[in-house]
Amino acid sequence: TSVPLYALLLGYLLGSIPFGLILTRMSGKGDIRDIGSGNIGATNVLRTGSKGLAAATLLLDLLKGTAAVLLAERIWPGSGRYAAAGALVGHLYPVWLRFKGGKGVATFLGILLGLAWPLAAIAAAVWLAAFVIIRISSVGGMLAAISAPIAATLLGRGELTLLLAGFALLVVWKHKENLARLRAGTEPRVGRSRA
Ligand code: G3P
Repeated sequence: TSVPLYALLLGYLLGSIPFGLILTRMSGKGDIRDIGSGNIGATNVLRTGSKGLAAATLLLDLLKGTAAVLLAERIWPGSGRYAAAGALVGHLYPVWLRFKGGKGVATFLGILLGLAWPLAAIAAAVWLAAFVIIRISSVGGMLAAISAPIAATLLGRGELTLLLAGFALLVVWKHKENLARLRAGTEPRVGRSRA
């Protein structure tokens, strides 16, 4: 039947809401895509100088992923993983922004929270540890994404491994500019404004 398609669409609609862009615009800080890395995520919103806006972006980008999974599960039990895929793709490739979306770290965490919260806890811990040690958001984000399929396997949620590995690949792929900057040694640390 078409339930997977509906769940995918519901996920996409929620995932494609660009909260970072909306919040920075609403607060008169201009277009986030003209600032720093040009990304619409919380890390770049922080480069506007507003911790509050960055925190709100992180929270809303995360919760839209959780909401997509939980809503889909409630309406069409068993469809959470389709909504999850829709939400991540929606955030990374929103039709409203000519498919130029974010990098997916917050939304991936939110999706994990909806699918299997212990995996979200582990990924968040990996992000935090990497962040505390090196203070580079992109490195924490990529490591957190990669940790998810591994954690799924180790925690007996092997049915999620392939899906989460696909998600992690997408997240890393969207970080290709960060990877180039990391190789060049120019990737900024959080707390310094250069991007
Ligand atoms: O979550 C996005 C982060 O991993 C990288 O953001 O703005 O430093 O490219 P940015």
